Amino acid sequence: MIIKPDATDRRFIGRIIDRLEKARFQVVQMRMLRLTSAEARRFYAVHEGKPFLDDLVEFMVSGRVVPMVLEKENAVADLRDLIGATDPARAACGTIRQEIALDVQRNSVHASDSDENAAIEIAFFFSD
Ligand code: RTP
Ligand code: MG
Repeated sequence: MIIKPDATDRRFIGRIIDRLEKARFQVVQMRMLRLTSAEARRFYAVHEGKPFLDDLVEFMVSGRVVPMVLEKENAVADLRDLIGATDPARAACGTIRQEIALDVQRNSVHASDSDENAAIEIAFFFSD
């Protein structure tokens, strides 16, 4: 998972981690950093060509982000359920995005969408 700049700016780091831990995710690695544009573009390479990519990169470099590695049985699917739909207006009640996100771009958290992408994304932020 990554806590995105809109959430770090509004001091929601603690609340998000509290929600993860209450849902039985174990935080096993965590950092705080500011991405460069080149890094954000590389991270979101799968979205190359999409109309929202430039805005997304600009947003992701606008403040601090908190990438973390989470452990749980069935972690990818359970985390997608916990964060809710990309657009908070469509996110189910009780999800992190429904509670905290501002709009479809400033949606507070990123979560890996498969075990394979989780491995790639973990290697991106955590060299060991
Ligand atoms: P994420 O990758 O961050 O967990 O989010 P997601 O799977 O729910 O959404 P995805 O389709 O992968 O899009 C990645 C991020 O791009 C921004 N976005 N903006 N303006 C727009 O229409 C739009 N669509 C997507 C969001 O920050 C989204 O999380
Ligand atoms: Mg995604």
